[in-house]
Amino acid sequence: MTQDAAIGIHDLSFATTEFVLNHTTLAEHDGTDIGKYHRGIGQQSMSVPAADEDIVTMAVAAAAPITARHGTDQIRTVLFATETSIDQSKAAGIYVHSLLGLPSSARVVELKQACYGGTAALQLAIGLVRRDPTQRVLVIASDVSKYELDSPGEPTQGAAAVAMLVAADPALLRIEDPSGLYTADVMDFWRPNYRSTALVDGHESITAYLQALEGSWKDYTEQGGRPLGDFAAFCYHQPFTKMAYKAHCHLLNVCGQDTDPDEIARVLELTTAYNTVLGNSYTASMYIALASLLDHADDLTDRAVGFVSYGSGSVAEIFGGTVVPGYRKHLRTAGHREAIDRRRPLDIARYRELHERSFPTDGGVHPVPRQTGGPARLLALDHHKRLYESR
Ligand code: HMG
Repeated sequence: MTQDAAIGIHDLSFATTEFVLNHTTLAEHDGTDIGKYHRGIGQQSMSVPAADEDIVTMAVAAAAPITARHGTDQIRTVLFATETSIDQSKAAGIYVHSLLGLPSSARVVELKQACYGGTAALQLAIGLVRRDPTQRVLVIASDVSKYELDSPGEPTQGAAAVAMLVAADPALLRIEDPSGLYTADVMDFWRPNYRSTALVDGHESITAYLQALEGSWKDYTEQGGRPLGDFAAFCYHQPFTKMAYKAHCHLLNVCGQDTDPDEIARVLELTTAYNTVLGNSYTASMYIALASLLDHADDLTDRAVGFVSYGSGSVAEIFGGTVVPGYRKHLRTAGHREAIDRRRPLDIARYRELHERSFPTDGGVHPVPRQTGGPARLLALDHHKRLYESR
């Protein structure tokens, strides 16, 4: 295992939305036994964006604490991963670059491959830092997961952004070589350009995830990766919390090991605390699992953590990381809890209204009601241009 000349995640912060829909509210509305949501898919609530929130405002809220702590001088690259793109041409990261006051001497680009995009951004960032270890890369993964109202995917919605500073000699986590990779052309989940909600073959998507896990683990092993028993915990992509459990059970089976529920809980439980109340945050999901693990574990110093990144369509990547001594004093646990606890609960009518909200496409001036208490908000759509303001 190479530790990649100690390059990895130097700081990590996430943000979510102004509003939350509790699954009990959804279950009362759609007549579902709450056991299906709480135990069947493992979700308690989901984040719902306000009218003036989107991937940009969540990204600013996630990244602002990082630039406040470390400054902006060494950031020469911003990689913004999303599958909730707001423009077919301009990178969402450019709005973030402006709202955060990042230096003009930087490159900004947007990346897409479903939920895998955040991992693509992280790996590209490592390559850039390896080329010049004095530079830092701001990696942002920000998404709003949205399915049709009253569809099976609806209870697996959510929204959040994660920001990570990738640097040499990182304070939190060293990312290791090798990676296990897997790509297959499958139509398990997709969103054509003309739709605001995703299309999904739900049960097929679970099978595709498990096949990709198996394929990327095989490659990880062939590339000389760690044995399963080395890992103190596994951060999976979590489209819904129960998926991490299904996936780890599958991995144990593939490796010919016992599927002992206590052992599965030991390596997963602390990684799912945030997802269970945020819902699917697509590109951000696996890194929010890492935040959950680091914020809740007693001490992981020098322990190996496994990462299983999956993006429908599909691409998967498995890699390991080692937790850096002293990491606990750099965590943002209080800020993360505050981001979750400050959300205001929605009733079903208000949630459905926000879900169905869309901008007119007439090129007029369309102000957006002030709803978010976050550091940036979407002010208006003005002659087809999105206007943002900072608080
Ligand atoms: P469904 O058909 O509504 O639910 O779809 P179900 O009937 O399969 O039930 C779900 C679970 O609840 C089952 O457990 C039931 O037994 C249980 P399982 O058998 O799977 O262990 N259940 C109950 N448990 C306790 N008490 C009860 C009860 N009733 C039922 N009363 C599905 C579920 C996940 C398919 C649906 O929500 C969906 O389509 N979600 C969206 C797609 C998705 O999340 N796919 C995951 C893999 S793909 C992925 O991760 C990529 C993605 O993030 C996108 C990207 O990459 O960009 C989605």
